[in-house]
This record gives sequence, C-alpha cells and structure tokens, in this order.
Amino acid sequence: MNPLLSHFTRFDPETGIVEGVPGISRRLADLRGAFTDEDAYEAALRRGNPVVYTVSSVSAGTGEGALHYGIGVLYPGTIGQEYFLTKGHLHSWRAAAEVYVGLKGEGKMLLEDEATGGSTIVDLLPNSAVYVPGHTAHRTVNVGATPLVYIGVYPAEAGHEYREIAKKNFRMMMIEVDGKPVAVKREEYLKGGLV
Ligand SMILES: [Fe+2]
Repeated sequence: MNPLLSHFTRFDPETGIVEGVPGISRRLADLRGAFTDEDAYEAALRRGNPVVYTVSSVSAGTGEGALHYGIGVLYPGTIGQEYFLTKGHLHSWRAAAEVYVGLKGEGKMLLEDEATGGSTIVDLLPNSAVYVPGHTAHRTVNVGATPLVYIGVYPAEAGHEYREIAKKNFRMMMIEVDGKPVAVKREEYLKGGLV
C-alpha cells in the first residue's frame, strides 16, 4: 500500500478548505475568454479581481484504478448577465467519467459532448449527484446567491485539458433574467436575440 495514502480527509463545507491540502484559487483575471460579455468583463476587472472559485484536490491514490477527488467552491456573482462559472474542461484521458456531488448552494452543470457538441444542463444541488460521462466537456455555474460547494470524483489518470474550451468556449451559457437563471445559446446571445 502507498504509505502516503490517507484514507480519511476532513474538509470544511463552508470554505471548501481540505486539511493538509493547498487549494488553488481562480480569480476573475484567470477567466479571460470564459465570459461572453467582454465589455462587462473588462469593467469588472477594473473594479477588482475577486476570487471566482477555489479547488482543493486530494490526489493521494496513484496507479491503475485509483481515484482522485476535489472540493470546489464557486462564489456567487455575475459578469454582465452571465453567472460566475468555472473555466470548464475535458479530461486528457477522454474516456474518464466523473461524479459531482452537491453540498451547498444552487448550481448548474453545463455538459457538452465533444464529438457532437450536444449540450445538457443539469442541476447541481445539495443531496444530489451529477454523472459526467467520458468525452464530455463540463463547467459548473453558480446560479444562486450563496457559495456553491461540491465534490468531484474522477479517475486518477483523467488529467485536465483546458485548451479546447479556451479556444471555442461552451455553446450554452447561463444568464440572469429577472433574477432567474435562463439557459441560452451563446450564438443567440451574441446576436442579442434572447435578452
Ligand atoms: Fe473533470
């Protein structure tokens, strides 16, 4: 057995901080290109560079069959009409699936099949889980007023691939309309057709 493997991990469900694990923070400036309204993004950056989300990953398990997991905290907010979101990624090992478990807050997951571009939007809520199949880009969006806290469990060998998303972004986006989350096609939003 791996002597570094810890079977037990304690985490704070309010902050997402995992004992003994340094978290990484993604600030607004790290999310260039992710938000659709570029003017709103630049204006928000001039006002400050807040932490949009943190991820603390537990990666003690190694080798074939091992699992890793991470605890994410995505803060509430909007850029223009678009809710705060994660960069989103594919797995380097495309076949690798993932399970997300909601702990706190109110979120959505954007799932996009890499081959077909087909989109599915799923609730990410406390006491619920989301299965992300392989070959599927995934992004988390906070559509509530409080931090969205969740766990993602994935094969240790999955790896994270951000470049494809950075190039073309997701086809769907979540915007706030009259205080409520609405899913729109990015293409339509850019044409100004649905707002
Ligand atoms: Fe993932």
